[in-house]
Amino acid sequence: MSAARRLRLAVLLSGGGTTLQNFIDLAAAGQLPVEIVLVISSRRDAFGMERARKAGIPAEVVRPRDFASEKEFAAAVFAAVEKSGAELICLAGFMVKLGVPAAWANRVMNVHPALLPAFGGRGMYGHFVHEAVLEHGCRVTGATVHFVDNEYDHGPIVLQKAVEVRGDDTPDALAERVQAAEREIFPEAVRLYAAGRLVVERGRVRVLPEKTA
Ligand code: GAR
Repeated sequence: MSAARRLRLAVLLSGGGTTLQNFIDLAAAGQLPVEIVLVISSRRDAFGMERARKAGIPAEVVRPRDFASEKEFAAAVFAAVEKSGAELICLAGFMVKLGVPAAWANRVMNVHPALLPAFGGRGMYGHFVHEAVLEHGCRVTGATVHFVDNEYDHGPIVLQKAVEVRGDDTPDALAERVQAAEREIFPEAVRLYAAGRLVVERGRVRVLPEKTA
């Protein structure tokens, strides 16, 4: 991709949208080569919708409860994404299971607040993850960016960053440091994707070296 060309990105969320805001801010600062062409929220009251509107990004609500099945919900999400012309989808705190059609394999990325495959799966999101990490007495946790397949918090791992767990940590304190790690590795994963440097082979991601002109 040439330096001038920006990757068309769709962001899916369910909550506060700090991850979306990080993308918006980095793109505005010229530090992320993306154009966010669509935001989809699974909830009407998600503050992320406000952030999208403020940034002038088209935003739609697509709620699972309005569909008879997971499959119909996913079809509606992907129809909206395809209409937007997005090339990559980032799940940014999207708390709903999304079946990924074959055409979108390795084109949907998620960020998870733990070092997968530990502390992932149904019910393991947001503060529940950090509570579980502290309950287990883990010394290390972190953040993972991965391509999404059809299982919860599963699929080829793109990047991870470790975060030390401190003896006096609370779930909130830990969440703050893990989110700081997310704010580094999620944009970095998008940059690598935009640069065509991510190759998925036998379920694993290989990061190609940077091209030198
Ligand atoms: C992020 O910290 C992300 O790791 C987590 O939701 C938060 C969303 O925050 N995602 C998951 O737990 C996915 N299993 P945000 O709405 O402020 O971007």
